[in-house]
Amino acid sequence: MAKTVVIGSGGRLGAALVRAWRALGEDVVGLDRAALSLGTDGKVESVLNEIQFDVLVNCAALTNVDYCETHPEEAFKINGEAANDIALHCEDRGARCIHISTDYVFDGNTSKPYTETDTPVPISVYGASKRMGEEAVLSAGARHWVARVSWVFGPDRVSFVDQVVSRALSESRVDAVDDKWATPTYTLDSATLLRPFLRRVEGGGILHLANTGVCTWQEYGQWALDCAKEAGLPLKTSTVGGVPMSSIKAFIAKRPIYSAMGTEKLASLTRLQPRPWKEAVRAHVLDQVQRGVWNASNGPS
Ligand SMILES: NC(=O)c1ccc[n+]([C@@H]2O[C@H](COP(=O)([O-])OP(=O)(O)OC[C@H]3O[C@@H](n4cnc5c(N)ncnc54)[C@H](OP(=O)(O)O)[C@@H]3O)[C@@H](O)[C@H]2O)c1
Repeated sequence: MAKTVVIGSGGRLGAALVRAWRALGEDVVGLDRAALSLGTDGKVESVLNEIQFDVLVNCAALTNVDYCETHPEEAFKINGEAANDIALHCEDRGARCIHISTDYVFDGNTSKPYTETDTPVPISVYGASKRMGEEAVLSAGARHWVARVSWVFGPDRVSFVDQVVSRALSESRVDAVDDKWATPTYTLDSATLLRPFLRRVEGGGILHLANTGVCTWQEYGQWALDCAKEAGLPLKTSTVGGVPMSSIKAFIAKRPIYSAMGTEKLASLTRLQPRPWKEAVRAHVLDQVQRGVWNASNGPS
């Protein structure tokens, strides 16, 4: 049985991968930021040298797009240089590196889902720093994978869908951007879809890892509210209004307008078909309701 290390196991995706894979009998070691702080000289070597592993999945990253825009040095250090150190370490010891990346490596000037052969053109520091990480991993050796995800949601950390439901529980008006398109990615589905790459799928390269379909943030949020209403949550509003991205003054970094990703390569390599994003969001919302995460007064507890 291959042993897998997950870096960034305290995060939204990393925590889900560790838990889901362990439940399926995988031998997984999770390293959160306390166990491995990236950007500290020599840390990657010294921590990883103490662990036997065959596959390493790097979910750690500086993920706040606007923070990255104002802290470029830190962004390139964590998302680029640290990814390089990790990939070279994996290559040296004959292990596979699976590096998690993003749809934000694209500029968004398209109207059909990006494929793995499309040329990345980052338009933000976050996107450029993640692209630097991708290039480092791909050039470290032929057995490594870059798995791009987008609009990630799941039970381990609050994300857009949870925020929309929380707001609808306490506010009578909820708006979301209706002129930006992508594909949501459910962390629990990612665990199933990525698992074949721990052993079975040979080779390496780029992979688009998401649910299927395309939506705006407004449609994504509206569907979350439809599911919350169906589950009986006492919403103060059941409608998400649409606003243009240009009206969001808090956005510092430029964001791609259209960054949906096609998953045909993933399906053909794994023979697993990702489910439509609406089914995944519904599963998540119903699961959160069942777990008692939301109540009428204060949203996520
Ligand atoms: N979230 C999305 O919508 C989205 C979209 C596209 C791509 N992605 C990519 O998906 C991957 C996973 O993201 P996520 O959604 O799970 O985000 P997340 O919840 O922010 O997880 C990232 C993890 O990285 C850790 N980290 C940050 N800086 C670190 C450092 N210097 N040393 C060690 N660990 C550090 C964070 O630690 P703390 O827990 O201490 O913060 C966090 O646990 C990332 O590569 C991200 O770029 C995410």
